[in-house]
Amino acid sequence: MRTQIVAGNWKMNKNLEETEALLSELSAKLPDTHAEVVVAPTFVNLAGAQRNLQSSRIKVAAQNMHFAEDGAYTGEISADMLLNIHVDTVILGHSERRSYFGEDDELLSKKVKAALNKDMQIIFCFGEELEERKSGNHFAVVESQLKNALFDLDAGSWSNIVLAYEPVWAIGTGETASPEQAQEMHAFIRKTITEAYNTEIADGVSILYGGSVKPANAEEIFSKPDVDGGLIGGASLKADDFIAIVRAI
Ligand code: G3P
Repeated sequence: MRTQIVAGNWKMNKNLEETEALLSELSAKLPDTHAEVVVAPTFVNLAGAQRNLQSSRIKVAAQNMHFAEDGAYTGEISADMLLNIHVDTVILGHSERRSYFGEDDELLSKKVKAALNKDMQIIFCFGEELEERKSGNHFAVVESQLKNALFDLDAGSWSNIVLAYEPVWAIGTGETASPEQAQEMHAFIRKTITEAYNTEIADGVSILYGGSVKPANAEEIFSKPDVDGGLIGGASLKADDFIAIVRAI
């Protein structure tokens, strides 16, 4: 049985007070669930969030990290800095990092290896642009993103990997992929991993869907056999919406 996960990617939102208020509300309202629940506040609030949630079932993740151990990388954060504040999960490859900050497959491969070197858990994001789907290239694009960043990993590394398929055209747009579109791509991803590795690894990796998941659409998306949860953006910033999505899994 794969781990089911609902993760909230807060992006560049919530100051310290707003973070503390949202975390307190989430902790108070969190239902009993079999799913793993994760929140990813901004860097400046990570340590406080970790302290706030240390006795909670809610896990804390970082939204990014650098591949270097330390050094002259102004503005960056290392794996050891995250582990030092007891954050062992990191989102890598988000489309906003790829498009706004030029993070390509080669750089992401280095970040993945740096995180694995510290035994961190990785939520690895990927997904096609609208024109790539319209031209029928979405499967090729997704396969390339996976192969270039992950398929040189050894089999044992996959226990540290969670995948998050996020069609770029669905992120922040309200244009959610249909449950059928999500299932079709998730099944393709699982088949691709089977061919590259084996069915045990493919069947064991959690594949999350991200891109305009809301309380109204979460249950149907999560009901699909190859969808193991969601990576939530906008709806993770409101306690009642995020809790409703957690209830949907
Ligand atoms: O990482 C999750 C995010 O990209 C999805 O954003 O606002 O479409 O749920 P949103």
